[in-house]
Amino acid sequence: MNQTLARHWSLNPEVAFLNHGSFGAAPHVVLEAQRRERDAQERDPIHYLAPERSLYGKLDAVRTRLGGLLGCPAEDLAFVRNATDGVNAVLRSFKLEAGDRIVITSHGYNACSNAARYVAERAGAEVSVAEIPFPIEDPAEAAAAIAAACCERTRLLLVDHVTSPTGLILPVDDIVRAARARGIRTLVDAAHGPGMLPMNLEQVGADYTTGNLHKWLCGPKVSGFLHVRPELQGSVRPCVISHAANTPAPGRSRFIAEFDWTGTFDPSPLLAVPSAIDFLEGVLPGGLPAVRAHNRALVLEGQGILCEALGVQPPAPDSMRGSLVTLPLPASTADAPPSGRVDPLQLALFERHRVEVPIVHWPVKGRRWVRISAQVYNDRADYERLAAGLVAEGEASRT
Ligand SMILES: Cc1ncc(COP(=O)(O)O)c(C=O)c1O
Repeated sequence: MNQTLARHWSLNPEVAFLNHGSFGAAPHVVLEAQRRERDAQERDPIHYLAPERSLYGKLDAVRTRLGGLLGCPAEDLAFVRNATDGVNAVLRSFKLEAGDRIVITSHGYNACSNAARYVAERAGAEVSVAEIPFPIEDPAEAAAAIAAACCERTRLLLVDHVTSPTGLILPVDDIVRAARARGIRTLVDAAHGPGMLPMNLEQVGADYTTGNLHKWLCGPKVSGFLHVRPELQGSVRPCVISHAANTPAPGRSRFIAEFDWTGTFDPSPLLAVPSAIDFLEGVLPGGLPAVRAHNRALVLEGQGILCEALGVQPPAPDSMRGSLVTLPLPASTADAPPSGRVDPLQLALFERHRVEVPIVHWPVKGRRWVRISAQVYNDRADYERLAAGLVAEGEASRT
């Protein structure tokens, strides 16, 4: 770990933490901001949580800050618990008829693909899976695979900005433009977007975009957003229907009012998000753009270290990489254990080598892959430790 920068986090210093991609990790300063919000909440619970008395104003301040980061007007942004919540809200609000189709991709996040299958089944609609190749040589291959999976019955495309199992940045601008030209609505799952990629939601022009603030933006857990184009906001409802369904909130659209209150909740993760943005703007000279560039350079350095130690090739061009890289494991360690169990290789890496990294069983059944992350608390030694651990486990599996 980079000792100078890792001191901003509570992460176990004995473990090389190479899995920022799963749940993120919030720095001390962000958790302190969250704690201050919680304390204020418990001091004056009614004044703090009654929406019109103080909560709406606080949420709106965060919304404005976030709009600046995501490149969209604040009033087009709702808050959700997480990307799964955002995807579900859109899918469950979407009017599907029997025979309609939703297109998802073979690199989609399982929970969100499940939500698409659920709403399709309920409506007698169908789900088609665009098979994006992996290894992949060019982002255009992904756009072509998605275009090929769409047909005249396709109503909605669910596509990741950065794919979860494979860490690929997909060309969402091109994908959204092509779908729009065919009259297909687009739902972009940008769970990994904020903090990893420069984002401009207006420019991409997707109908719906959801994402997490607790991953690469380093916000507290349970902080997400949902952006909906203004003309569609009237038809998107949260997964939980509450007061705002029949109680107008002065000065607020029903879209914002419904998502702002889905029953008693703890707003402290959302209210600490500005402190996460401040943190990332200040942690390296050059601010957030410098953090993104640093993490990308570091994960590509990690890729180089692992490829050399394991004798494998990068499965995707560097242009499709942000701060996540998935690599094949050599044949000796690639045999997958039965599904449904925690991967013994992942456990061995944690217990014997003190490395936390996800071992991914995708996309070829019977093969394992390793997915590395880079955040500013990491350094070269973390990838070297992982490489040594993988080599040792590979040798152990041969004896
Ligand atoms: C592409 C993608 N979508 C959705 C999610 C779900 O995130 P959450 O569990 O915070 O909803 C993830 C989590 O890793 C993801 O990678």
